[in-house]
Amino acid sequence: MTAHPNISKSAFGQLPDGRQTSLYTLSNASGMLVKITDFGGIITQIHVPDRAGRLADVTHGFDSVLPYLGESEYFGALIGRYGNRIAKAQFELDGKLIELNVNNGSNHLHGGENGFHRVLWKATPFTLANSVGLKLSYLSPDGEQGYPGNLSVTVIYELGGDNTLAIRFHATTDRATPVNLTNHAYFNLAGEGDILAHTIMIPASRYTPIDAVQIPTGLLPAVEGTPFDFRQPRAIGARIAEDHEQLRNGFGYDHNFVLDKPAPGERSLAARVHEPVSGRVLEVFTDEPGLQFYSGNFLDGRLSGKGRVYGYRGGICLEPQHFPDSPNRAGFPSTILRPGQEYSSSMAYRFSVAR
Ligand code: GLA
Repeated sequence: MTAHPNISKSAFGQLPDGRQTSLYTLSNASGMLVKITDFGGIITQIHVPDRAGRLADVTHGFDSVLPYLGESEYFGALIGRYGNRIAKAQFELDGKLIELNVNNGSNHLHGGENGFHRVLWKATPFTLANSVGLKLSYLSPDGEQGYPGNLSVTVIYELGGDNTLAIRFHATTDRATPVNLTNHAYFNLAGEGDILAHTIMIPASRYTPIDAVQIPTGLLPAVEGTPFDFRQPRAIGARIAEDHEQLRNGFGYDHNFVLDKPAPGERSLAARVHEPVSGRVLEVFTDEPGLQFYSGNFLDGRLSGKGRVYGYRGGICLEPQHFPDSPNRAGFPSTILRPGQEYSSSMAYRFSVAR
């Protein structure tokens, strides 16, 4: 019998350049189990109990490293330097035009084609009294994917006894650069099927509508009376098919919600998701001002792994973040990190069950 909490390491496959990758398995006494690879800091599996104690893997992923090098829809990935889109892959910083890798139409998405989800991190496992974790570090060189400055990044994953997976991000730089780190795990709390019957609650009175290429318009309208009002729990599928301009632009939900915060920068609940059949509940906490709620609209059964086919709207992402395109929007909270400052952000996924 394994003592808990526990962390162990196994091989996850060789990269084309010969480097080996590893997979770390974190488990706690309640049977929750999380697998994380040092490639891209990707979460590949999350097993949590339903109300009868039966475990299911509630996240999308693959069995080995190679599929993550291809088209992978950012399954489980650690995203950086900048989560979400930057319009036309460029912005002005201190009077200089910065040009980034273009990987989403004419825009920049999730740190570029070879963003942090495709680099090999240095991994250090640790064990504390009631938790186990993995510390990942990476030095992103000046100019990587177009970003200025050498950015030293640390990400800590920590699995607690209370079925919480906490993620803490830290970074420092030697030149001003935008930083907006997050995680892109997909969730399906039933472990199969689509997510339309999951209910979701997002404590956000406003959101950032997008244009036809999914760049924020800069407006922050109220969600009141729209399909974007999730202040009371509602099935994801309840209004997703309505003929609403924003649901057309996002192909469903693919929007940043402006979280109602007790105070700016304070940690608070960002979303609560409930799957009625299994009873599984996921709560997301963050100190970030926004949450991207993406309803898996680009999944279409092309990708498969772990014995499953990842079908249309078969998973949702809940990405705590600063608002998309902030480097081009003086009105949005700033994402610029300067030498001498420390970037720090923290989030958590907490699993439980309800009737
Ligand atoms: C993010 C984006 C989506 C999509 C997914 C990955 O959540 O907002 O538009 O690109 O990543 O497919």
